[in-house]
Amino acid sequence: MVIISNYKRYKNEIFDKNKLPKHLAIIMDGNGRWAEKKGLPRSAGHREGAKTVRRVITSCLNFNIPILTLFAFSTENWKRPKNEINYLIKLFERVLNKEKENLIKNNIKINFIGRLNELPNSLNETMNELSKSTRKNNKLILNIAINYGGRAEIVDAFKSIALKIVENKIDIKEINENIIKNNLYTHNLPDPDLLIRTAGEMRISNFMIWQVAYTEFWVTPIFWPDFSENNLVEAIINFQKRVRKYGGKV
Ligand code: FPP
Repeated sequence: MVIISNYKRYKNEIFDKNKLPKHLAIIMDGNGRWAEKKGLPRSAGHREGAKTVRRVITSCLNFNIPILTLFAFSTENWKRPKNEINYLIKLFERVLNKEKENLIKNNIKINFIGRLNELPNSLNETMNELSKSTRKNNKLILNIAINYGGRAEIVDAFKSIALKIVENKIDIKEINENIIKNNLYTHNLPDPDLLIRTAGEMRISNFMIWQVAYTEFWVTPIFWPDFSENNLVEAIINFQKRVRKYGGKV
C-alpha cells in the first residue's frame, strides 16, 4: 500500500490518518477454531495469536493510535481445560518477558487490568516488573485485560466506593457516573472509540461493559491468528464513516 500524505487507500476507500480512534479495544477471538480447522492443537492457535498481537501493536505504533486494550483472558476462562489454561499462562509470561526490551525501545507503556492478584505469582511478578519499567513511556498505552471481567470490575468499583464511604472520604449523595468511572480499573483512560471482535460472535462477553456505552463496534469473521493490518485498516475505514451521536441528534 502506498501512503499518500495522511491518506491511505484500501480497496478504493480512503483511510484518514487524521481521524483515528484514540482508544482501540479488541476482543481477540477464534484462536481455538483457527487451530481446529487446521487439525492442530488449540495451543498452536494461541501461539499464532500472540504473533497477531505483535502485528497489531506495530500497526498502532505506525498509525499513531495512542491507546490499545486487548482482552487476553477473562474471569470466565478458568472454566477451560487445565492444560489449556496452563499453556496460556506460560505463553503470557514467555511473550511478556521476551518483548520487554521491545516495549521499552518503542516507548510503549504497558498496563494490566483485571483481578491480577488471583494470577500465579511468577506471572504477577513479570507484569509488575513490566508496568514499572515502562511507566514513563508515552507513545502507546497498551492495556492487557487478564483475569478480567466487566462485572467483576464493577463489583470491585462498588467495594472501593463503599470503603471510601465507610472511611468518610465521600458521601453517598456525591456518587455519580464520574465517581464510578474513577473507581474502575480504567479510571485513567478515555472510553474506547472502536471495539473490534474477531471470529464472528456478535456479543460483548463481559468486556468493558461500563466503558463501551457509546463505543462503535466492528465484528469480522476472521479468526484472530489471521487478523492482518488490512483488516485493521478496513475496521478503521468503517469507523470513520460512522456518525457518533452519543444519544443526541446530529
Ligand atoms: C480467544 O480464542 C483467545 C484467548 C482466550 C487468548 C488470547 C491470547 C493470545 C492472543 C495470546 C497472547 C496474548 C498476549 C497478550 C501476550 P479462543 O480460544 O476463545 O478461540 P475459540 O473461540 O475459537 O475457541
